[in-house]
Amino acid sequence: MKNSKPISQSKQQKVIDELVGQRVSINPGFFDAELITALYQELVGLEKQEQLRAAHIGKQQQRAQIRDIRGDAIHWINAETDAQRRFLAEMTQLQNALNQQLFLGLTELEAHYAHYPPGMGYQKHLDSFQNNNLRRITIVVYLNPDWQKDDGGELEIYDDDEVIAKVLPLGGTLVCFVSEEIPHKVAITRRERFSIAGWFRVRDTAAAPTS
Ligand code: OGA
Ligand code: MN
Repeated sequence: MKNSKPISQSKQQKVIDELVGQRVSINPGFFDAELITALYQELVGLEKQEQLRAAHIGKQQQRAQIRDIRGDAIHWINAETDAQRRFLAEMTQLQNALNQQLFLGLTELEAHYAHYPPGMGYQKHLDSFQNNNLRRITIVVYLNPDWQKDDGGELEIYDDDEVIAKVLPLGGTLVCFVSEEIPHKVAITRRERFSIAGWFRVRDTAAAPTS
């Protein structure tokens, strides 16, 4: 794969302006096809080789209940391949732009691949909780090369109880939103659904040494 190229200024600016204006930004065609194809093939391979593990939510819940709330299996992204490194490099550019213009003080991105088999989804939730508020900006990146309305699996974005946007999980699309303010849900998918979910975070100062 070719070296990382800079994301265009105008694509980054659209994300920033929409986050400021409406706390959500939806960007079809944000990533180039070569990168999305490489990420997709890697994730399909991991799934075939049974390298993904069931996602969990809280510590107390039982497995069966969790599958009901959240049906994806995941693999954390940690720069172990060219495709992952290029993806992380592009997201670092976005992180820097967010910090420069919005003074968010973001220090890192935690991100994982996700696979939802047919029949699975993720019930309405927030990505950041009162006792775990280090996640500031959520990103979701879709990897399937094609997707139809009938395939289900849309990301539904809420304002309280009202759905204000539905996003088809079509490869190349980037969705960003303010983690602690935007409830969202993954509708039950009828096809294998491949994506990346990530969170720009701030450093956990409570865990830092005090002197
Ligand atoms: C998540 C999530 C949305 C999506 O993993 O927390 O909300 O569209 N994912 O995959
Ligand atoms: Mn979420």
